[in-house]
Amino acid sequence: MKHLLKLADLTADEITELLNIADQLKYEKKNGVPHPLLKGKTLGMIFSKSSTRTRVSFEVGMFDLGGSALFLSSRDLQIGRGEPVEDTARVLSRYLDGIMIRTFAQQEVEDLAKYGSIPIINGLTDYCHPCQVLADLMTIRERKGALAGKKLCFVGDGNNMANSLIAGCITMGMQVSVACPAGHEPDAKLMQWASETGNFLCTTDVQQAIQDADVVYTDVWASMGQEDEAAERRKVFAPYQVNAVNMALAKPDAMVMHCLPAHREEEITAEVFEQHADEIFEEAENRLHAQKAVLVKCMGGEQ
Ligand code: CP
Ligand code: NVA
Repeated sequence: MKHLLKLADLTADEITELLNIADQLKYEKKNGVPHPLLKGKTLGMIFSKSSTRTRVSFEVGMFDLGGSALFLSSRDLQIGRGEPVEDTARVLSRYLDGIMIRTFAQQEVEDLAKYGSIPIINGLTDYCHPCQVLADLMTIRERKGALAGKKLCFVGDGNNMANSLIAGCITMGMQVSVACPAGHEPDAKLMQWASETGNFLCTTDVQQAIQDADVVYTDVWASMGQEDEAAERRKVFAPYQVNAVNMALAKPDAMVMHCLPAHREEEITAEVFEQHADEIFEEAENRLHAQKAVLVKCMGGEQ
């Protein structure tokens, strides 16, 4: 695996291998077993948007693997003043062993991979968030024992999280239902691909979507870059809340997941959030382990 640009690029076998490596690295970390698989390697981390989890888990991940990480804000880089991606990619390829980038356009990530000569890892774009969903799949597998056949329901905006959940969960043989307001559906091409498996449903009816779900997932109603629309979105998305009434329709042992940050009493009630805090924060922890697996596979460490 050279890059991680989007989950749709990976096969079920490749995802399973990443999850197996992640489980092993988690076990080793918990038991104090060092794993310096990327000794002497440097990851550049370009951020054009805010981050808590992605920044810290990648930086700690590189440290755990014996390498180092550089935080590069696009506000400080020349890329923020218009230096072309193709030049940035060719320059950074001569200093670094890999790049993690969080930005707006998916095309920028694809262009870094096209023009650079080092592994590129997508740390979130407006289109997708593959690292988060690898951690999510790891968490579901830990708690439910298997992925195939399980039903995940995503409630809310058909955004980057919805797109990556569709790509990852459908690839792993899960059933996916999305409940969102009309006009806020996930990517049309991805939905078409998912529908062809017979395991996908997108509806405006949250109660239909959540029926018998093993996992209920939600995310903010206004993503980074949509701050100006937040007030309007609060009205449109009000019926799409993960709350006790809707949760009563999921399986009794259903997990609740959230990529975080969360807005209590918007996409999820404080009550449901706190009832499922163990799952949600384990999910956040698993970012570290899952991304270390990605780093090892992309940047050449041996497992
Ligand atoms: N879930 C996630 O990516 O969190 P950050 O925005 O804090 O990185
Ligand atoms: N959809 C959210 C995810 C944050 C991790 C956003 O893009 O802001």
